[in-house]
Amino acid sequence: MKKHNSVSFDISGTEPQANFSDNPAFEQVVSRRLSRRHFLQGSLALAAGSFIGAGLAGCDSGRSAVGAAVKKGLMGFSPVSINRFDTVTVPSGYSARVILPWGTPLLPGAPAYKADGTNSAADQAMQIGSHHDGMHFFPIDVKNGGQSSTEGLLVMNHEYCDPTILHAYGGEAQLPRKAAEVHKEIAAHGVSVAHIQRQPDGNWTLVENSPYQRRITGMTPMALTGPVRGHDKVKTLYSPDGTATRGTLNNCAHGVTPWGTYLTCEENWALLFVNRDTVQPREHRRYSISNENSIMHWDTAAAEDSELARFNASARAESATADFRNEPNTFGWIVEIDPFNPDSVPVKHTAMGRFAHEGVIFAKAEAGKPLVAYSGDDSRFEYIYKFVSAGLYDPATAGPHLLDSGTLYVARFNEDGSGDWLPLDINDASFAAKAQAAGALFSDQADVLLNTRLAADIAGATKMDRPEWGAVHPDSGEVYFTLTNNDRRHSSQLNSANPRASNSSGHIIRWREAQGQRFNWDIFLLSGDVYTYTPQHQFMLTDDNHHASPDGLWFDPNGLLWIQTDMSGSQLSSGPFGNNQMLVADVSSHQIKRFMVGPVGCEVTGVVMTPDCRTMFVNIQHPGEGSGPYSFSSTWPDRGTRRPRSATVVISKDDGGIIGS
Ligand code: FEO
Ligand code: CA
Ligand code: CA
Repeated sequence: MKKHNSVSFDISGTEPQANFSDNPAFEQVVSRRLSRRHFLQGSLALAAGSFIGAGLAGCDSGRSAVGAAVKKGLMGFSPVSINRFDTVTVPSGYSARVILPWGTPLLPGAPAYKADGTNSAADQAMQIGSHHDGMHFFPIDVKNGGQSSTEGLLVMNHEYCDPTILHAYGGEAQLPRKAAEVHKEIAAHGVSVAHIQRQPDGNWTLVENSPYQRRITGMTPMALTGPVRGHDKVKTLYSPDGTATRGTLNNCAHGVTPWGTYLTCEENWALLFVNRDTVQPREHRRYSISNENSIMHWDTAAAEDSELARFNASARAESATADFRNEPNTFGWIVEIDPFNPDSVPVKHTAMGRFAHEGVIFAKAEAGKPLVAYSGDDSRFEYIYKFVSAGLYDPATAGPHLLDSGTLYVARFNEDGSGDWLPLDINDASFAAKAQAAGALFSDQADVLLNTRLAADIAGATKMDRPEWGAVHPDSGEVYFTLTNNDRRHSSQLNSANPRASNSSGHIIRWREAQGQRFNWDIFLLSGDVYTYTPQHQFMLTDDNHHASPDGLWFDPNGLLWIQTDMSGSQLSSGPFGNNQMLVADVSSHQIKRFMVGPVGCEVTGVVMTPDCRTMFVNIQHPGEGSGPYSFSSTWPDRGTRRPRSATVVISKDDGGIIGS
């Protein structure tokens, strides 16, 4: 008999703890409690390394010093107060306009958005997806060396969807799920490539019938490249030779390659699969794949549409090429998309590791040197990674091949303010010895990469408070990373890099590379309520900048650091922080101001500017989260009683000036 159940979706705050390992570095540091002395040691180490950089090239004024941001007139705006308004609030003298809300017709011939939620899966696959996240603006002439600030490709991630808002019926769904609904949900995920243009009146509009407009969804065919391509553990009924898969899912933040392509990062994909085998393989278990039900129950629609069977990763046939036991192994990667070639097949770069990638950020590419990229694994007690290409960067020949071979490292933050990048390389004697001591056998480097989290446990990485976005200072090369929160860190689990128990507010860490895979780090900012104090910088938060759960992070060309928040639950509904917000920091002077507050229930995530720094794009994700179906806590941006829609906000200064001035 078929099981008929109703089910509601708990889709927010979906970053499960999967790391219960006792790796050596962790054991070393747990006995060392936080003390002022440790902070001072860190400060001294960093001071010796002269942490802060000198000049940088800005948008409009040649070279200027980081510390001179304020002198340049940047940070001159009046900070926005916290609020719980159902609107986007920007400083006096600035304007915010909405473009590209979920459901906007994108591809030629795409049907109009229907406010009653009755658009079909096929409609959705031609429209802007839901839950906008990481984003980049590619000037339309960038391939020819141009820097257009009036026309370009805005490429953005669609992290997930809320069925309550996506579907006409809202509310609870019936089990087994209906295939038509599941396909609409899958089509709401992925990436949009939107060709947009600035009009004389300052509005930005889609370029009609542009050949560049593209939707990539959870069904789009993709190739696997790098060491895992063709491995036994990625062979499926769909791809018996283990070279391909379908779709990218839970695309959170992003990256931009030095050769001008877009990278989209797969974060909470593990929740979409179920494996009910008695014993799950480590490639599933260490990523928290459920042995009961997937979060969206997509697999239950398989009887209606066999294409959806792939979300059940239980071993159900005689061999891996006759079922989808390996399907989850084709997720958890960084995916490259060439926005200027709409026919290109997206590529999953397996050399960069498999985990809940939040985003990826490149160090400044230097000719004749390897490429370096950083990526965080956003789950409680997970790690920060660095990829170093085997090939050397040459602007004339740089391309995807640079991401297909190299060394993946994981970060160990030492108590004294130093750090080590630990190689996850089967050919590295130190790693091989640790793996042997731990009784962990890896058949080859592909096996290491498929089990990146396990490899990092073995290497002795430092367990972090949910690594989110990274940002690299455009001049000094310092790397900043948000650690959004970790309410499960106990006082017995503190280390200097994660110094607070029940860390509900999060912090921002930073480092500077040193010789021989070493680095020096400090804590740039402890987030929290007014009076929260960051001892290393004698910095205290005030009404102008208090916040919690930093997530999105981006350096603009002027060297200003934009910080976006992703509070959820009780932090949003009550307490000192108001709605989610975006702040901006001058990292040299440690001046921080709140620049924007988003509408009710939203997350503020994704930020980029045009090259002239006079137009900023910011994404508003999931306004009205958790509400509905017939009474929405937010009706932004359509108003009335309409359902809320994730959207992009275009921010400009009324006098046409530089954003942040
Ligand atoms: Fe999708 Fe970690 O935020
Ligand atoms: Ca995020
Ligand atoms: Ca987040």
